[in-house]
Amino acid sequence: MTQRIKKVVFPVAGLGTRFLPATKASPKEMLPVVDKPLIQYAVEEAVAAGAETLVFVTGRTKRAIEDHFDKAYELEMELEAKGKHAMLELVRNTVPSGVNCIYIRQGEALGLGHAVLCARPIVGNDPFGVILADDLIDGNGEQVMSQMAREFTEHGCSLLGVEQVPPEETNKYGVVSTGDFNHALSRVTGIVEKPEPDEAPSNLAVVGRYILSPRIFQLLEHTAPDARGEVQLTDAIARLLDYETVLAHEFRGVRYDCGSKLGYLKATVEYGLKHPELGPEFAAYLRHYHNAD
Ligand code: UTP
Repeated sequence: MTQRIKKVVFPVAGLGTRFLPATKASPKEMLPVVDKPLIQYAVEEAVAAGAETLVFVTGRTKRAIEDHFDKAYELEMELEAKGKHAMLELVRNTVPSGVNCIYIRQGEALGLGHAVLCARPIVGNDPFGVILADDLIDGNGEQVMSQMAREFTEHGCSLLGVEQVPPEETNKYGVVSTGDFNHALSRVTGIVEKPEPDEAPSNLAVVGRYILSPRIFQLLEHTAPDARGEVQLTDAIARLLDYETVLAHEFRGVRYDCGSKLGYLKATVEYGLKHPELGPEFAAYLRHYHNAD
């Protein structure tokens, strides 16, 4: 039987300290790039990959995300009364009908691994996707979760989205060692969290896309917190390698690290330039700005 990924987990409970004070009362995943919050780009990517259940692991500031994907009765009635039909569609279509949103709370921000473990009661014994919405990826035609879901259907094992990063930046990521790549895929032989450049096994960094076997939950349960008190997903994946094949998928697409201010600004410019209504005017503005400099 071919396996499909039907559940995708969105850990959205981090503190987002790099974006304070914007993230004081609202999760960073609600930051908009042009006119859509980061989490909506992530949800659209999951739905395009065939996800039917979306599991949000939320934290202190959960309200905004729940409200965003809920029905907004008053707003919808007002838009309807004013005949603003295009806007009404935008508001109504944040999640397609037939797709379920489930919210689970991570009481304390105890790390990405802990956040993923919080999704266990919903995910159960199925393989599942994980998307970190702050890694916004423009998949150039096919979004990354769709690329990985296709590979999953073919190979039936866990997959990590990876990309080459500048060698001096390995200490910001989980970094893998692999065999040779064949059609953008390679078997993961090791993984370490945030290695210093002189200790990194490669410059292939795991970025915010995963397809994981449910065995990861048992391993996360027994993963000790690191020195900062956080349970790292990377550590559990390192142990998963003892039991199962894990593949690195070098995805096609351009990633914007929207957890950092610079990455977020770059995404805003690029998505602004591609925006069907704003693009030409924004491009003219940037040219003018550049020339005036
Ligand atoms: P980050 O490493 O970017 O941490 O989390 P952060 O707390 O969100 O942001 P900074 O570093 O303080 O600015 C990566 C992803 O894991 C989620 C975050 O929401 C983000 O999507 N996460 C992290 C959780 O859901 N829970 C956690 O305990 C930690």
